[in-house]
Amino acid sequence: MKNIQLFNDDCLKVLRTLPEKSIDLIFADPPYNLSGEGFLTTKNGKVAKLHKGDWDVITDIHKFNEDWMSECIRVLSDTGTIWISGTLHNHPSVGVLLKKLGLWIINDVIWFKRNATPLLSTNRLAPSTELIWVASKSKKYFFNYDLAKQINGGKQMKNLWEINAERHKTIHPTEKPETLMQRIILIASKEGDTVLDPFTGSGTTGAVAKKLNRNFIGIEISKEYFDIAMHRINIQENDELNFNVYLNGNNNNAQQLLLMEDKAKYTKKKKEKAII
Ligand SMILES: C[S@@+](CC[C@H](N)C(=O)[O-])C[C@H]1O[C@@H](n2cnc3c(N)ncnc32)[C@H](O)[C@@H]1O
Repeated sequence: MKNIQLFNDDCLKVLRTLPEKSIDLIFADPPYNLSGEGFLTTKNGKVAKLHKGDWDVITDIHKFNEDWMSECIRVLSDTGTIWISGTLHNHPSVGVLLKKLGLWIINDVIWFKRNATPLLSTNRLAPSTELIWVASKSKKYFFNYDLAKQINGGKQMKNLWEINAERHKTIHPTEKPETLMQRIILIASKEGDTVLDPFTGSGTTGAVAKKLNRNFIGIEISKEYFDIAMHRINIQENDELNFNVYLNGNNNNAQQLLLMEDKAKYTKKKKEKAII
């Protein structure tokens, strides 16, 4: 029987409890570190403060990255890969740390969003990409080359991925498109493998992992987003997987917890159309 485990906790704390080399694929979408005073963006065509949430304001981002990345590397299997997404606010730190921690850097995937939000300021180019570092502990890692080729219409897949930002399914401000997660999980894991997402957010990785018959371990520090992820993963159809959630370190049955909650609060409000 396959399993889904969702933790409402700090990822560092939970990662330290996971067995060494037990994970086949890690997808991490850590805080971007782009929120703060004086940062502006556009929302529904108007200027708005760029504040993704308090979780996105980190004093020492390099130390934060080194701590969670070191633990992820400890739990990653020798044939597994780690995929870390981010923008220019964080990817230099991640790249330096991958080298420092002795990983083999396989690819830098450029995710291009043709429909990215326009920029109001006139002193720079409009950001329309995110970078996804792909790395492993050895040169013998799992990579489904043939499937990647098949997904790309029979042609060798390149590291420039054009995938539009999708209308968000939840109120989480930085929800990733399911199309992106589907591609990563298909290329980098097999059915029955275990996928870990230490910054689960709205649960995109978990919902896609469940759909594709992978075991999943997700960790999310915010109770609000944890609830959203729990609901989203729960409604994703697949009866073959057990679903357990951990609140304050205690194991609970997800379905029973959800029965007690007001499900309506997880559905996206129509007015909010945020696209990262
Ligand atoms: C960029 S978002 C991830 C979005 C996610 N990929 C999705 O599709 O919804 C980062 C998430 O990490 C969470 N987070 C921040 N620090 C954390 C920590 N130390 N442990 C666990 N989660 C954390 C935030 O609450 C936020 O939801």
